[in-house]
Amino acid sequence: MANGNGATTEEGAVDSEIVLSVRDVTVAIEDKVILDKLSLDIERGEILGFVGASGAGKSVLLRTILGLMPKQSGTIRLFGVDVDQASEAERLRIDMRLGVLFQHGALFSALTVLENVQVPMREYLDLPKKLMDELAMLKVELVGLPPDAAHKFPSELSGGMIKRAALARALALDPDIVFLDEPTSGLDPISAAEFDELVVKLRDTMDLTVYMVTHDLDTLFTACDHVAVLGKKRVLVEGTIDDMLKSEEPWVKSYFRGKRARQLDLAARA
Ligand SMILES: Nc1ncnc2c1ncn2[C@@H]1O[C@H](COP(=O)(O)OP(=O)(O)OP(=O)(O)O)[C@@H](O)[C@H]1O
Ligand SMILES: [Mg+2]
Repeated sequence: MANGNGATTEEGAVDSEIVLSVRDVTVAIEDKVILDKLSLDIERGEILGFVGASGAGKSVLLRTILGLMPKQSGTIRLFGVDVDQASEAERLRIDMRLGVLFQHGALFSALTVLENVQVPMREYLDLPKKLMDELAMLKVELVGLPPDAAHKFPSELSGGMIKRAALARALALDPDIVFLDEPTSGLDPISAAEFDELVVKLRDTMDLTVYMVTHDLDTLFTACDHVAVLGKKRVLVEGTIDDMLKSEEPWVKSYFRGKRARQLDLAARA
């Protein structure tokens, strides 16, 4: 059973800081193995950057962790609880502690920003409208959107504002961990950098754990404490950016030490 600190009665303090633990998880879609005995841990308060080639299975892993896709084998523990063993009530409590920004998870176009942020609140909480409006407004402000954006429809917002609104929705229930799938893709470099700063600020102020799938080298260099690389259907390499820069794994080497990466590294260290 999880407590507020994510500790388990079985494993005690040793596991207390591991928010998510994926062990030997295998996922196949129509007989095609996408993930093969993949293991990964994320610690509380960490910003994990999850990278890998397009089509490698990053979104599949995310959907599997969230319980939206079945796995063939392996164990997923969230806040110390094995999700396969969790009762319905436990699963609900876990779900309420997760926030998600899907890769193609645009906002509901027929709803305003405020109404979009309220979607998880309506799903999980039974609150009076006035309180929900106030809470949703706080989230809108938290992600740096101007108050008048709350009453706009997604079609009236810029790409950067849509990402912020989607982040506000992911934060609607004050989650302990947020899963962000390519949150800065499609943004210009300045908007992307601002989004990264926001994520770091939220982690620092809200004691948030962040699992971020990204292709963005700037993000990996500036915002992530830890990087995991998906390749050959499992986590091929993991560690700090410095570990990535030292890796001799060919994909990792060309990704982190290619021409563009070197420029970024120099800039980051200047
Ligand atoms: N619903 C699905 N049905 C069939 N195949 C799927 C499905 N979802 C994903 N796949 C396949 O699983 C593999 C991994 O896809 P996934 O979307 O996880 O890649 P990704 O690493 O997130 O890529 P990208 O960086 O482009 O987002 C791909 O070969 C994809 O075609
Ligand atoms: Mg993806």
